Amino acid sequence: ITAFFSPKVLAGQQVLVTAGPTFEALDPIRGITNHSSGKMGFAIARAAREAGAEVTLIAGPVHLPTPRGVRRIDVLSALEMLDAAQREAQHASVFVATAAVADWRPASHSEQKIKKDGSGHPPVLHFVENPDILATVAKSERARDGQLFCVGFAAESENLIAHAKAKRERKGIPLLVGNIGPLTFGQDDNSLLLVDADGVRELPRAPKLQLARELIAEVAARRSQGGL
Ligand code: CTP
Ligand code: CA
Repeated sequence: ITAFFSPKVLAGQQVLVTAGPTFEALDPIRGITNHSSGKMGFAIARAAREAGAEVTLIAGPVHLPTPRGVRRIDVLSALEMLDAAQREAQHASVFVATAAVADWRPASHSEQKIKKDGSGHPPVLHFVENPDILATVAKSERARDGQLFCVGFAAESENLIAHAKAKRERKGIPLLVGNIGPLTFGQDDNSLLLVDADGVRELPRAPKLQLARELIAEVAARRSQGGL
């Protein structure tokens, strides 16, 4: 394993990773969030660093130690994550979006705790859609002219291959990674499906760090194929 990334296949590259869930506040003590341990994204950040890249990890609220040598930016909401991602993507050459971004946020945020009003009727909550961070970055000039290689992740509960292919095209990205099986949340093992313009390939079940290393090797190979 120590020889895995020698020579260092991402030396001189700047890799940006989003990881973990986002948290969308409703009032000072409540909010909505997604189920995500952040483990896959943290493993990818570590693997990219091992491969010689300068790595920035934008992390939602997770309880994980920062991988050694990785620069970490903590955020809470999708809007904060978008802000950080757009800023950091300006000097990245690879963007791997693993974050489980909340698709919606409360339309308004109450400065005070929302109280029960005694009527027995719960409050009616309104939501607005969050921006798609990956698709937004993938539309940037640097991504479109090939200076920034964008990778997405997708967890689906059904029809993984069909959904993953459609999602890759909709987001305008060269590579989308499918998380196989709905039961991998928080676990250390996983298996992945790589979906690109040529088709689909499986990385068989393995510890997340090993899969992360294999994925980083794939990304490095694709970047060098593209002459970058
Ligand atoms: N993603 C993102 N910003 C969002 C939603 C998703 O950056 N607002 C990224 C995720 O980090 C992931 C990829 O897009 O890399 C796919 O996320 P997913 O939730 O599977 O896709 P959605 O487009 O949100 O579609 P849906 O949840 O309806 O399946
Ligand atoms: Ca989503």
